[in-house]
Amino acid sequence: MNLARAHLHGDRDELPADVEALRQRIDGLGPWFHNLNIGGVWTAPNHFLGDYPGEKFRRFADHLPDDLTGRTVLDIGCNAGFYSLEMKRRGAARVLGIDSDERYLAQARFAAETLGQDGIEFRRLDVYDVGALGEQFDVVIFMGVLYHLRHPLLALDLIREHVAGDMLIFQSMQRGSKQLLDVAEDYDFNETDHFFESGYPKLHFVEHEYAGDWTNWWVPNRACAEAMLRAAGFSIEKRAEDEVYICRRADRPYEGRAGSGAVYPERHRREAE
Ligand SMILES: C[S@@+](CC[C@H](N)C(=O)[O-])C[C@H]1O[C@@H](n2cnc3c(N)ncnc32)[C@H](O)[C@@H]1O
Repeated sequence: MNLARAHLHGDRDELPADVEALRQRIDGLGPWFHNLNIGGVWTAPNHFLGDYPGEKFRRFADHLPDDLTGRTVLDIGCNAGFYSLEMKRRGAARVLGIDSDERYLAQARFAAETLGQDGIEFRRLDVYDVGALGEQFDVVIFMGVLYHLRHPLLALDLIREHVAGDMLIFQSMQRGSKQLLDVAEDYDFNETDHFFESGYPKLHFVEHEYAGDWTNWWVPNRACAEAMLRAAGFSIEKRAEDEVYICRRADRPYEGRAGSGAVYPERHRREAE
């Protein structure tokens, strides 16, 4: 039985005999955020965003390299591994999915194993700790994580400094205007009008909760998402979907000047031990 094929093509005639047992196992690992078709059982059929992230992926998949043969991929905030699985399917030699939440990693391992997708490693690691990997990847996926972070620009800086070898596939929830103001290189101290323009880069701070989720901290508008990518040292090659960008590692503005990149706050020795 080829469950990988069943996942990708929704093949219903290749269902395992004991679908009920599979459903129970899947329920036991829930709740799921990724709606995966594992042997004919959908993991999150009532997702508030519909068939997520499959529906979103289908809107930008054609903009990604079809053949990743020999390439290495790091999927940051991999969740149940939807994108890791898709990259492996495109032939990537090595796929590493990291997430800070062990429950999602258990889902990802189960999905990969059940779908017969060998060669994907899932590891618990915080995005702020990517330096510990000591390795650069041809493709880094950083989708749906930025707005969950208290320190979003630091995360982008760390990704650029430690793991982004070439391509970054980035997505963030965006709120506010989709307009892009033609921002000047500099403004006089007394010039303030541009701050009131909806197309000026704005990062909205969520003090309490958004959509019932206290882990939503900062939500950029479109101009801000794009400006943050550039400020961290990524050039935007393509806006592949409303919120999805294909970027390349590029020069970082103000490179070499103190405070222009990642910082490494020192922990108290006892805390770090
Ligand atoms: C909205 S989901 C996005 C999942 C997937 N990347 C996607 O686009 O469908 C956010 C994921 O990021 C993970 N995450 C949140 N904060 C993280 C952090 N500091 N380091 C690593 N992963 C994190 C969550 O556990 C969750 O799996």
